[in-house]
Amino acid sequence: MARQVKSRQRVTEFGEVFTNEREINAMLDLVKAETERIESRFLEPACGNGNFIAEVLRRKLAVVASRYRRSPQEYQRYAFLAVSSIYGVEIQSDNAQECRERLFDIVEKGARSAIRGAVEPAFLDAIRYVLEKNILCGDALTLKDANDEPIIFAEWSLVTGDLVKRRDFLLSELLESSAGKNEQTSMFGETNTPWMFDMETQSYIPAPVREYPPVDYREVGRNG
Ligand SMILES: C[S@@+](CC[C@H](N)C(=O)[O-])C[C@H]1O[C@@H](n2cnc3c(N)ncnc32)[C@H](O)[C@@H]1O
Repeated sequence: MARQVKSRQRVTEFGEVFTNEREINAMLDLVKAETERIESRFLEPACGNGNFIAEVLRRKLAVVASRYRRSPQEYQRYAFLAVSSIYGVEIQSDNAQECRERLFDIVEKGARSAIRGAVEPAFLDAIRYVLEKNILCGDALTLKDANDEPIIFAEWSLVTGDLVKRRDFLLSELLESSAGKNEQTSMFGETNTPWMFDMETQSYIPAPVREYPPVDYREVGRNG
């Protein structure tokens, strides 16, 4: 069984006690259908080394493999979609880095097992890039990153074929959209706050702080 405590000091300073696998699976089973929906968006605030999102990723990739293992191109495109819809915030930088490496490992091993020699280096580079943007070292209470700047998350959506569109949003605004509402909401575009009507999601969302032109998902790193 994985260690739940790294040190007594970290427990005292950061409340760092990792959730065990059995509890994670029991909790995720409460939203089982969402954990198996490839593009379903998950944010784990205070993610530690990513116990919840790692399991979500495993579940999504199992679906990707079962549907697309015969087509390396489709497998990689949907694996990209699965990873790019997963987000985490963690205050300790070593945990955030461990989390990124762990998720990358799950993707790489999954791809090598599903499509073997057809795994493209550019696909793996894109996964690495997205994990840098989606798993952030920051404070989930102040919503500031390690540089004390407001946390910005990128929304990645496949538009057509291999083209992906990126829009950046302030986490504070995404969360504000669900504040005060006693209902389960999702990130990006599935909220009711009247900021702007988004044609893509056909719903009201906060205005993005930045939009990028669509690019091949293997080239997302070009946007800086
Ligand atoms: C109880 S552990 C849970 C970790 C993981 N979610 C799990 O279930 O295994 C809490 C984690 O939150 C982090 N943490 C504490 N305060 C935080 C904050 N204000 N913002 C982000 N992360 C925080 C700690 O470093 C620790 O890794």
